[in-house]
Amino acid sequence: MNCIETDFAVVGSGLAGLLSALHLAEHGRVLVVTKRELADCNTAWAQGGVACVVDPEDSFDAHVADTLDAGGGLCDAQVVRDIIAAGPARIRELEQFGLRFMRSADDGESYDLGKEGGHSHRRVLHCDDMTGREIERVLIERVMAHPNITVRVHCIVIDLITTSWLTQREPVAVEANRCVGFYARDAVAGGIFAVNASCTVLATGGGGKVYLYTSNPDVATGDGVAIAWRAGVPIRNMEFIQFHPTTLYHPVAKSFLISEAVRGEGGVIVDADGTPIAEKYDERGSLAPRDIVARAIDSEMKAGGAPCMYLDIRHKSFQFISRRFPNIYTICLKFGIDMARDLVPIVPSAHYFCGGIEAGTDGSTALPGLFACGEVACTGLHGANRLASNSLLEALVCSHATASAIAAASPGRDKDPVRIPDWEVHAAVPSDEIVVIEHNWNEVRTCMWDYVGIVRSNKRLERAARRLHNLRAEIRQYYLDYLVTPDILELRNIADVADLIIRSAMMRRESRGLHYTLDHPSADESCLRDTTIRDPAGGQIR
Ligand code: SIN
Repeated sequence: MNCIETDFAVVGSGLAGLLSALHLAEHGRVLVVTKRELADCNTAWAQGGVACVVDPEDSFDAHVADTLDAGGGLCDAQVVRDIIAAGPARIRELEQFGLRFMRSADDGESYDLGKEGGHSHRRVLHCDDMTGREIERVLIERVMAHPNITVRVHCIVIDLITTSWLTQREPVAVEANRCVGFYARDAVAGGIFAVNASCTVLATGGGGKVYLYTSNPDVATGDGVAIAWRAGVPIRNMEFIQFHPTTLYHPVAKSFLISEAVRGEGGVIVDADGTPIAEKYDERGSLAPRDIVARAIDSEMKAGGAPCMYLDIRHKSFQFISRRFPNIYTICLKFGIDMARDLVPIVPSAHYFCGGIEAGTDGSTALPGLFACGEVACTGLHGANRLASNSLLEALVCSHATASAIAAASPGRDKDPVRIPDWEVHAAVPSDEIVVIEHNWNEVRTCMWDYVGIVRSNKRLERAARRLHNLRAEIRQYYLDYLVTPDILELRNIADVADLIIRSAMMRRESRGLHYTLDHPSADESCLRDTTIRDPAGGQIR
């Protein structure tokens, strides 16, 4: 079996992955492994932008207060302050890389700052409505040109390799348990290879695909959370799944996101008659934080039996809408909706994981040698509900801090000499019933949407837990019986992540932020703590 030796391995190719790779490449050889092409990631789909204090009228304190307010009491205030204060320097770095944020039409110089739900100021830097795509373009260009970075596309990580697992097989003296790399499958060449790295950075993004309806791309299957959990790393606050209030409701649109920035520019959520609905739920109306707006839409749809609600921005001119939202305008038009003349049908869908691998702002996790940054990590910035556009900010700041922390520790390649064994197929054979994968994939996602969605209850969670128990047993058997393929690996990951979400939701016996349950409809201060799940037997491979 092929074993790739490298100094640093980065899994994932969104903003967090590519930026940490670029910084690490100043200190050694970096291998970037990604599941599809480099730009197939959540970052590339980010429309809104990067929340950052750059306007003299704005302040760090105001941004901190808005973040804490949205976070429902569960943000780590120090982490919030640190990340927000570090933002402007990272924005300058992106600009040095060649990114141009949109400037005001008035003077062409000052930033054109967007406004989104829960923000007390305009503070979202953006590149039209395609901020993530632009960030990816600029970073990919640099990564591909860097002599210290090697990229392996179409490769999916199977499991992390730890020294504790290695020493069970072949006793050798190692100082303490640490991550020394991973096994991955190459979807094009077909084989399984190992990577041996002194540090592995997980930057695999979120897992919207755990739900039937999501604003995320197909790659968002929660891989990093699942593989870290299987390695015994603590996973935090998985009950806090952010549902974006406005994804396009259209039979073939595949939940295309209608950015919150549209509401920031005056868009209003209305019913089919054009009556605003959000004011009934919060005085901030359509620009209240996302948990409130998504629940308002869900509740109106359920009460009236409507298949969707609508976004109304018809009071703005065609010129304004098509200049500010060129991509959204064009895509809607493709589906026969002219935003300047028509109501835009919308529904909420799974958008962002506020929880994830328990990690510091410097990416450190409980497993030495393993780092996590971006959406896959839970640093304490988002608490129980993320403030809009704080995610790209977190990815920017924490990927830089992660690379700096790794470089400062300079662990050295020869510290724990390990021999990575070949991947063992045991008795696995090629599958003769691939239909099981698609069936279980749909079942997990439907079950999560129906029972672990925007409004939960004890009964729904118990039902989901029973289903997931059976599904995971079946998926595990399939994984052991047949040669691994990308599809079974993704299915195994979404099922593990679904189980973590259900278990975390069952542990939280109150409603807070994004977790709302009919059985405990209010927040309870005695429950004001993070939910942490860890598999004490983790670290085994197969
Ligand atoms: C949006 O543009 O509405 C998404 C931004 C975000 O999720 O922060």
